[in-house]
Amino acid sequence: MAIINLNVNGKTLSVDVDPSTPLLWVLRDHLNLVGTKFGCGMAQCGACTVHLNGNAIRSCTLPVSSVKTNAIVTIEGLSEKGDHPLQQAWEELDVSQCGYCQAGQIMSAAALLKRNPKPTDQDIDNAMSGNICRCGTHVRIRKAIHLAAK
Ligand code: FES
Repeated sequence: MAIINLNVNGKTLSVDVDPSTPLLWVLRDHLNLVGTKFGCGMAQCGACTVHLNGNAIRSCTLPVSSVKTNAIVTIEGLSEKGDHPLQQAWEELDVSQCGYCQAGQIMSAAALLKRNPKPTDQDIDNAMSGNICRCGTHVRIRKAIHLAAK
């Protein structure tokens, strides 16, 4: 075990954990940020996507010790009141079906819009290809990203 300081959603937080613990489990089990989900645990599905210095990363395979002072943002920290343009577009277009993968989808989409405010269909498909949705909401996800980009 070791005391590790993290910068999560703009706050400095300390956790006492095995340094090899994946960031996902520190967020969920130690910081109670349960919006980030476990899907595959192998960096294959995107359910666990968070931002590390603004980039979408898979938190299920990233040891917490490697995060250091880099800024982590989870779905809970994406906006003050759940009113990020993507969250509004998601609601307007009823994107979610079961909802399980959607926090990860939104975090990947938010990273995309930060680096590319007007993405094409192809840009969206490329950026979102690592986020799998078993309900097949990908068409609505693409529409919602375009809506948020307006
Ligand atoms: Fe991390 Fe699937 S749980 S990519």
